[in-house]
Amino acid sequence: MTAAPRIVVLTGAGISAESGVPTFRDAGGLWEGHRVEDVATPEAFDADPETVQRFYDARRRAVASVATNPAHAGLAALEHELGDELLVVTQNVDDLHERAGSTRVLHMHGELRLARCLVCEVRSDAPGDLLPGPPCPACGERTLRPDVVWFGEMPYGLDDIDLALAGCEAFVAIGTSGAVHPAAGFVLTAEALGATTLELNLAESEITPFFAETRLGPASLLVPEWVDEVLGG
Ligand code: APR
Repeated sequence: MTAAPRIVVLTGAGISAESGVPTFRDAGGLWEGHRVEDVATPEAFDADPETVQRFYDARRRAVASVATNPAHAGLAALEHELGDELLVVTQNVDDLHERAGSTRVLHMHGELRLARCLVCEVRSDAPGDLLPGPPCPACGERTLRPDVVWFGEMPYGLDDIDLALAGCEAFVAIGTSGAVHPAAGFVLTAEALGATTLELNLAESEITPFFAETRLGPASLLVPEWVDEVLGG
């Protein structure tokens, strides 16, 4: 990363909910239908790679069939005006921020559209299903896994995120329950280092008490409203 961003936005599954991507912990969410330990841990992949691959193949196909919503578009419009003064850190593995036009997006939990080779570690595009496994384009082995961060694994970009949180003026969390660390702690870091903090969520979250301000409502309404405020509209 080059300049320290003025605004750091953390997004969670709630920003993609109105596009039709299921969240994890809401009613009907992914963790109601699946056990985390069966599909989202390295141990699950070791024990039963086919089940894990099938789960992510289904999610990749589901994401490919939906469209961005005004919340993604709002953040893309904000980046268009602010350039590298805005950084979006997302916990989402979908590519809806990019499809809406955002380019400065840090996927701390990885991306469904990428695969990673268990043998050579090279990351490559995963435009389609990983089951049956295509060969790794770098080493030729059939040892690709989804490039998503599972429970017990280290999220991507934590050093860059820490730097960004330390230098930002404003931290805004959109559509995340605050149930998963380290993302759940970002608000405390940002606040301790002097940033203003704002939460946009459909309902109060586990981390609501830590924000200076919380606005409740759907992201498709709240995000464009907030973006207009920032841009002085
Ligand atoms: N607009 C705004 N917020 C919404 C909307 C909406 N339309 N719909 C749901 N939400 C909010 C919910 O109120 C909840 O706080 O989005 C949040 C979704 O929470 P989770 O399902 O826990 O998703 P998230 O916070 O992204 O989960 C974090 O957990 O399982 C892991 O790796 C996975 O990245 C994920 C992480």
